Amino acid sequence: MTDSSRRVDFVVVSNRLPVDHVVDDDGTERWQPSPGGLVTALSPVMATNDGAWVGWPGRADLDLDEFDADGLHLVPVRLSSDEVDRYYEGFSNDTLWPLYHDVIAPPHYHREWWEAYVAVNERFAAAAASIAAEGATVWVQDYQLQLVPRMLREARPDLTIGFFNHIPFPPYGIYSQLPWRTQIVEGLLGADVVGFQRPADARNFQSAVRRLTTATTSQTAIRLPDGRRLVAKAYPISIDSASYEQLARRPDIRERARQIREDLGNPKVVMLGVDRLDYTKGIGHRLKAFGELLAEGRVSVEDVTLVQVATPSRERVDAYRQLRDEIELTVGRINGDYGTISHQAISYLHHGFPREEMVALCLAADVMLVTALRDGMNLVAKEYVAVRHDGDGVLVLSEFTGAADELKTSLRVNPHDIDGLKDAIVQAIEMPQAERRRRMRAMRKRVLEFDVAYWSSTFLRELAASKNP
Ligand code: ADP
Ligand code: G6P
Repeated sequence: MTDSSRRVDFVVVSNRLPVDHVVDDDGTERWQPSPGGLVTALSPVMATNDGAWVGWPGRADLDLDEFDADGLHLVPVRLSSDEVDRYYEGFSNDTLWPLYHDVIAPPHYHREWWEAYVAVNERFAAAAASIAAEGATVWVQDYQLQLVPRMLREARPDLTIGFFNHIPFPPYGIYSQLPWRTQIVEGLLGADVVGFQRPADARNFQSAVRRLTTATTSQTAIRLPDGRRLVAKAYPISIDSASYEQLARRPDIRERARQIREDLGNPKVVMLGVDRLDYTKGIGHRLKAFGELLAEGRVSVEDVTLVQVATPSRERVDAYRQLRDEIELTVGRINGDYGTISHQAISYLHHGFPREEMVALCLAADVMLVTALRDGMNLVAKEYVAVRHDGDGVLVLSEFTGAADELKTSLRVNPHDIDGLKDAIVQAIEMPQAERRRRMRAMRKRVLEFDVAYWSSTFLRELAASKNP
């Protein structure tokens, strides 16, 4: 909790702050950008709004006062190492994450994880309540903090409270597994507006509300027994598209893209995948498809190279550890079987990069492969489109991403259908330039117009309008 007397009119609350506190091997302490789409999307929003960002600084047992960084006012919330185990790695990332992503991995249910989730949500709610001025707007983010809206409303009925879920909300048949399903829905109903990525997510939430509470729903409106009304609907998130395009126009970054192709041996086609190393991203399906294409001689390593950026993520959770082993084994096998001295099949990179390097990689890539098995939005798909101001490049995009609702001229794939995925990869490689340009033009129109400023202003306008009298 913060003890400062500072109070602000706008507060964002998310599990993570936009920066992580890290200690290098030599003991040097520093801050680095924290991973994931939530931080990518919200950072530009906070840069243009005065306010405070409440979140965890990424390490256990860290006592920090609130501070300013890059024009942002940051309010750190302390988590003990036990809470990191139970609330973050346990309930958030080994219960809710797999449950909300169609049980791709089995969710684990443990009562002590739930108890830690409740206790930590209380701490975030208290931190937000103590920094929020009278009548302020508080915008709570994502699945780690679903109890915060109700806790905040009970402590501070003067506040206007928004909630945005960055990941899918599952169909009731899956959601109903959760032993604490009613408490979570009631937690979310504390908000004035509950936002989701896709209309299907909002519908799934409303169905859970109808099954588990006495509230009634009508289209996007929910009415509670006490007469209070709230809105639950889709607000698809986006990126700061113009800033990606600007980077892509920089001569040094264009030169870097050329250099990347040269370093890869100037293959005819560079394909790219960029994902947190997460089982939802379908990296294994992508590698299987590429491996089979090489085995069948439909593509050759002289002509086609795959660059796979697999960002380290949640490495103490078993399912993530196993995934890393599987992926690295598969990459090693494919490279061993098909690579030559001069040409590697897959260039595999397991670390973070500066934004400039990510943009150069997108510029260097003829084909971007997004094969997620389930993804709330997938900002990488939008970043690829924003970067390609030359109008070229092919986006292969899983229909199970939120982005597929918007990027309709991508090459849409069902990543479970390995033959279909292989055909789509070949189609992308062979696509005539005129067709590439036509498809990219339509996607660019969408991504440049519906950027993250549009997302946040739409949500916040509807939040302001929703305040009950
Ligand atoms: P998720 O939120 O599940 O991680 P998204 O695709 O929505 O997936 O967002 C991922 C964000 O993280 C994007 O902005 C992407 O550019 C960024 N990113 C992913 N991997 C790296 C990396 N290795 N270095 C730097 N940024 C990365
Ligand atoms: C997704 C989630 C975010 C999360 C990010 C990175 O984008 O929606 O809430 O912050 O992944 O995951 P991590 O567990 O490292 O915060």
